[in-house]
Amino acid sequence: MLMFRQTQARKSILVKIPSLSSAFNVKMTCSYYGNVVNTVSYASKDMAFLLVEYSTENEIIKLKETIRYQSREYLCAVTPLYSYKDLPQTVKLRGGQLQKSYACSAFVAPTEKEMVKKLEETNSISEQMILLYNVLKLPDFNIRLRFYTAEQISFYLSRLFTNISVLPFGSSVNGFGQLGCDLDLLCQIDRVKQSKSDSLSFLTQTLSLNEKNEKKVFLETIGTLMKVFVPGVTNMRKILEARVPIIKFFNTYTNMQCDLSSSNVLASIMSQLLYTYAEFDWCVKPLVCTIRNWARNRSLTKDEPGQWITNFSLTLLIIFYLQTKYIVPCLGTLQDVARHNTSKLQAVNQQPKNEILYQLLYGFFEYYSIFDFKTQAICIQEGCPRQKKSYAPLYIYNPLESTLNVSRNVTTIQLTQLIDNFRNGLHIMLSVKEEDILMCLLNLKKTPEMCNNTPSIQISQKESLNQEMFTEQRNANIL
Ligand code: GTP
Ligand code: MG
Repeated sequence: MLMFRQTQARKSILVKIPSLSSAFNVKMTCSYYGNVVNTVSYASKDMAFLLVEYSTENEIIKLKETIRYQSREYLCAVTPLYSYKDLPQTVKLRGGQLQKSYACSAFVAPTEKEMVKKLEETNSISEQMILLYNVLKLPDFNIRLRFYTAEQISFYLSRLFTNISVLPFGSSVNGFGQLGCDLDLLCQIDRVKQSKSDSLSFLTQTLSLNEKNEKKVFLETIGTLMKVFVPGVTNMRKILEARVPIIKFFNTYTNMQCDLSSSNVLASIMSQLLYTYAEFDWCVKPLVCTIRNWARNRSLTKDEPGQWITNFSLTLLIIFYLQTKYIVPCLGTLQDVARHNTSKLQAVNQQPKNEILYQLLYGFFEYYSIFDFKTQAICIQEGCPRQKKSYAPLYIYNPLESTLNVSRNVTTIQLTQLIDNFRNGLHIMLSVKEEDILMCLLNLKKTPEMCNNTPSIQISQKESLNQEMFTEQRNANIL
């Protein structure tokens, strides 16, 4: 998938056009340089763009040789972003009928009102969860732009370094991405193969990116270069003192909030792992999408890092729950299959689509409402709970580095809030009409109790007793 998307990005150019209505003319102009196979026009920050894909990389090479580079200043930046006026005005059309381009503003999720309207057209919660996933998932065009953004930075940096490449990772590639999610970028240094027969070789400074300090210096330099030379890069912030140093910036041309980090092999392996789980069974992505949105709408996750659970840790909680239900295999089984190259592993989920998502969502809330967080940890490797290795309130063994806890940032208060919300999720699923459940979970509709102006969920006497018991049990499970 990565190679396919990278090649697609290398066969593409991004052209800044006067307006969306000029897209067709620009597309015809671009076809002068080769066989255009796909175009998408879109608007970003009062500017209009056309993403043009050619059939081969050669056509891009030819195009780069033909057009002149333009810069207002004397310093001439090598830009893979093209402006329409750079291209010749009189063109000879070739290649017959061109594919239709369309104006697209698919960067942001629908408004709450639009979402409610869509959800109200469907009655079953399982169908609604699938709908939610389909509405929020990254459209093809958005993925193309993400890989183009990475390729654009790679292109710049490769003028200076011969063995550098920039690759997307995280939710842009692991199957759990949603409209508006950030673009995580990994700047990797590829090993240069040394040939014994070479009599001449480049003499370079040695840089060990395993050293934290050198990583910081490297990232800082890359950041400065990008800020000065890469068109479209704005609002750059260098966060170099964090555990994983990153550079945050916004790319105004592709409308992406980006986080660039340096060489980190485990991060891309983690993306492969999540991708494998996302692809394993059809129900994984809609379930993760629903729970991620539920958590965001209840302020359990936030944009900025802090003492709360991250989308990444939450996704591991969901995968673990699915392992306990034998919907996805544990990591150990996946590794066995990979080692012995057998193709025995198959999705086991045979249940009908209209029931399973409801059951899994309910089961997820139920499982973690009573999970013994006090002594037990989540272990993706084994697919069953394991003894905790520290007093961290929430302990999720890092699937790739078993000595680390990926949720060590979560405090007792945050965990308590999380468990209360799991239980609240259960309550909503039991007490609200099926067609309203998802909207109540996502805070798009008030629960009947909230409509009666009661601030918290109202409970019967019997349930009040249950709640007291629950609070006791919850505290026992945490503290
Ligand atoms: P959103 O950006 O919230 O949509 O999800 P994301 O999966 O992209 O999460 P985030 O941007 O926070 O992190 C990007 C990727 O870095 C994740 O998908 C993981 O692969 C990896 N990652 C994040 N947090 C950790 C962590 O605590 N430990 C490890 N080993 N990897 C992490
Ligand atoms: Mg991300």
